[in-house]
Amino acid sequence: MKIFIDTANIDQIREMAWLIDGVTTNPTLVAREKRPFEEIVREICGIVSGPVSAEVTALDAPGMISQARALAGIHENVVIKIPMTEAGMRAVTTLSQEGIRTNVTLVFSAPQALIAAKCGASFVSPFVGRIDDAGGSGMEVVSEIVEIYRNYGFATEIIVASVRHPRHVLEAALLGAEIATVPYAVLKKLFNHPLTDVGIDRFLKDWEQVPK
Ligand code: G3P
Repeated sequence: MKIFIDTANIDQIREMAWLIDGVTTNPTLVAREKRPFEEIVREICGIVSGPVSAEVTALDAPGMISQARALAGIHENVVIKIPMTEAGMRAVTTLSQEGIRTNVTLVFSAPQALIAAKCGASFVSPFVGRIDDAGGSGMEVVSEIVEIYRNYGFATEIIVASVRHPRHVLEAALLGAEIATVPYAVLKKLFNHPLTDVGIDRFLKDWEQVPK
């Protein structure tokens, strides 16, 4: 399973670069950095060797396509994040014919993911945390997408997004999703277990009894 980091923060990306397989950003994450968007994307591509998702902000297909072509020109690893709308799917269809990779974002249902795959999306991003927040089950949606993609042999990879805690990562892995994109704070939690800390303390205490 691949792990991406869900951030536009260069320090966080640099720190975790040894572990991660890619990066996802969105307009909210970019806005926090108070720096020009294209400059951030270029810098990330210089740090990480995997896919780097950069999102368009146009809402019409021609606007999305022209923003996508410009972003894709920054670096070969740039993947264009396109929102799951009818206009977005027209853009994905054109971009996929041009060989530009896309990540269909703001996906909240399996039928949306089916359409994204049919349009040639390289990646699809179900937002599990936001589905849970709205009283649904994000992981049930992921499970449906996994089954649909398996039924028809779609090559679209599932990025489990809007991850809030390690259990989301665990469940994504159990379902066989190809990728989880994980915020920095959750990524750090993946290393931890209280019994690991207790175990280290005990070993170090016992080690003091070893004659020197
Ligand atoms: O990058 C998209 C997604 O991961 C956003 O997550 O926490 O804003 O719902 P969140």
